[in-house]
Amino acid sequence: MDIVVLISGRGSNLEAIAKAYKTGKIQGKIKLVISNKKDARGLEIAREYGIPAEFHNPSKFDSRLEYDRHLINRIKKENPQLVVLAGYMRILSDEFIDAFEGKLINIHPSLTPAFTGLKAQKQAIEYGAKFSGCTVHFVSKELDTGPVIVQAVVPITPEDTEETLSEKILKFEHRIYPQAIKWISEGRVKIEGRKVIVKDAKYGTIPVNPALEDF
Ligand code: GAR
Repeated sequence: MDIVVLISGRGSNLEAIAKAYKTGKIQGKIKLVISNKKDARGLEIAREYGIPAEFHNPSKFDSRLEYDRHLINRIKKENPQLVVLAGYMRILSDEFIDAFEGKLINIHPSLTPAFTGLKAQKQAIEYGAKFSGCTVHFVSKELDTGPVIVQAVVPITPEDTEETLSEKILKFEHRIYPQAIKWISEGRVKIEGRKVIVKDAKYGTIPVNPALEDF
């Protein structure tokens, strides 16, 4: 399955996905990486993996909608079966979400619908939550709360800081994101309203539900 990945920064999830493609765990290729930030480290990671990587400058456009329309055109030229948001820190216009409906996924560092938006790990710590985690979901028009494909749970201890919690969550992000892409590439993922079912997956497991198979 061919994908396009959108990033804004570090690109560690992009790297986990790129490794999964490179080692043949996922069939197909990452056709293009797009960043809305010029200095995103993820652009270098993409190039290290031989993936075309482009910075598209939002300040060259008059509005969010104009920029998103430009991105829609650029992405469609690659004809991807899936568009993957990997730390893409820009709110998407409804037109962008409609353009890739059912073919657009995101990872968020909390158990959605808790702690959506920015600094989800800090929000969880400050709230005093005893568990947080990460979620891969289809993107819908409500921020960070589209239909959930897979979640991983991480316990929070009194010693945890935003940094230590982020690190623990990130380890799971790097496993559940390639796994979710692989499930979609195998044609096993069906969306029924708000519910997503992965065919033949093992449900009811902790810390990852449904259970990881390949990562
Ligand atoms: C990840 O923790 C991802 O879950 C989060 O940004 C980080 C990107 O890291 N995304 C969001 O908060 C989206 N609302 P990365 O660039 O190293 O993959």
